[in-house]
Amino acid sequence: MPGIVVVGTQWGDEGKGKVIDLLSDEMQMVVRFQGGNNAGHTIMCDGRTLKLHLIPSGILYQHIVPVIGNGVVINPAVLIEEIDNLAAMDVDAERLRISYNAHVILPFHENLDGLQDESRGERSLGTTRRGIGPTYADKASRTGIRMQDMLDPAGFAAVIEEAVEEKNRLFACYYNADPLDAKDIAARYEGYAARLRPCLADTSILVKDALREGHGVLFEGAQGLMLDLDHGTYPFVTSSNTVAGAVCTGAGVGPRDLEEIIGVTKAYVTRVGAGPFPTEQDNDTGDIMQEVGKEFGTTTGRKRRCGWFDLVVLGYAVRLNTLTSLAVTKLDVLSEFDTLKVCVAYRLTGRTIEEFPQVSGDFAACEPVYEELPGWKKDISGVRKLEDLPVEARDYLDFISEKAGVPIKLISVGPERQQTILLDGMEEPLRQGRLLFYDDFPL
Ligand code: GDP
Ligand code: IMO
Ligand code: MG
Repeated sequence: MPGIVVVGTQWGDEGKGKVIDLLSDEMQMVVRFQGGNNAGHTIMCDGRTLKLHLIPSGILYQHIVPVIGNGVVINPAVLIEEIDNLAAMDVDAERLRISYNAHVILPFHENLDGLQDESRGERSLGTTRRGIGPTYADKASRTGIRMQDMLDPAGFAAVIEEAVEEKNRLFACYYNADPLDAKDIAARYEGYAARLRPCLADTSILVKDALREGHGVLFEGAQGLMLDLDHGTYPFVTSSNTVAGAVCTGAGVGPRDLEEIIGVTKAYVTRVGAGPFPTEQDNDTGDIMQEVGKEFGTTTGRKRRCGWFDLVVLGYAVRLNTLTSLAVTKLDVLSEFDTLKVCVAYRLTGRTIEEFPQVSGDFAACEPVYEELPGWKKDISGVRKLEDLPVEARDYLDFISEKAGVPIKLISVGPERQQTILLDGMEEPLRQGRLLFYDDFPL
């Protein structure tokens, strides 16, 4: 079985966690390849909710080998808390494998994230303040601390103390902020190292072996295309590459290891944090989406900004990720509306454009050009087959799929596992219950 990639096609929170959990049953390994605990992936089963920030969303299946690749930045305290929470639910997360080369988030990275974003004033990015940007900055500066540094306890303490002292000078001189206690941090991190050391591995080889043996390997994206460091709405982006191509660098595989690239796309659009968002509905429409869709950030609890579906953004995601299929989520939320708007192009200084403009000022100035489609105004959360969806809902999906030029393979009509319609050869596993293990589900 080839490598399957699942990525977000918008500004994150598209429902990747739900989709990955569903698909994981057929996989042997699920691999995170970028981002850190800025991500918040939600899995719901039997009304109970599991929120994951670092551990791959396939963890609930005992046969899955969960892997955190080298491209991820790891806050060990958060990771250990997740492992312990899962253990309390009888899910063994100690089987997790973590790349030697993943970088470590330290308390000063979190502090710096907050101080930097505050110092931007009106131009603040609204980061999650989880230290993601500063940790990737240290990685690029070649001053970062890696998981493999945990292998040598004395050396680990020394590099941490040195790094804290250096950042303390920055805090004092530039931000007028209190220093951190280097010895205390080093001692705490040694405790984390003792817990995580057995999980460290050459994960690139683990992944390659699984692929070579024909097992299904799913690569779990965090965030979404528009938050990509290179291709998103810079500077209102995260500090890693979120495109499918990042699997290669972030998991240590080659482009030919990837075959299927699934883009998760919400039936409308949301964004958390600052930055341009052409189809945003800062009005009753957006409020309805926010309330019905329960659009609160999984990591920070902030209200998500909401707006109409944007085909320019999706087209960009199709191109940059070479998407082979789409998973459309939260279709049920649109049942509220008489009429649905879909942005098919932008108006920019008198011109109509169908491509995401690369100059950031242009994107901020874009006005959406909408087509209107009729709504269905029916509860669809119980629908399990495509043919049982109202014709207006199928037309809406066809419209998106045709314009994007990519087939839809999965439709989600509610947060629970079983609130899913699988298409194109995927219905059979669903019917047989192979994708629906909620009877022996450990939650
Ligand atoms: P991720 O970051 O892409 O994994 O997405 P999040 O988990 O942060 O946010 C998606 C939210 O929508 C979660 O609360 C999910 O439980 C919920 N969700 C996922 N799919 C559906 C759906 O089809 N309908 C509804 N109503 N909620 C959904
Ligand atoms: P998942 O994986 C939505 C946003 C933040 C902020 C910007 C930069 O759950 O889809 P950062 O802390 O990364 O430096 O913040 O990126 N952001 C997300 N928004 N979903 C996410 O992840 C996000 N991860 C970061 O809100 O605007
Ligand atoms: Mg999320």
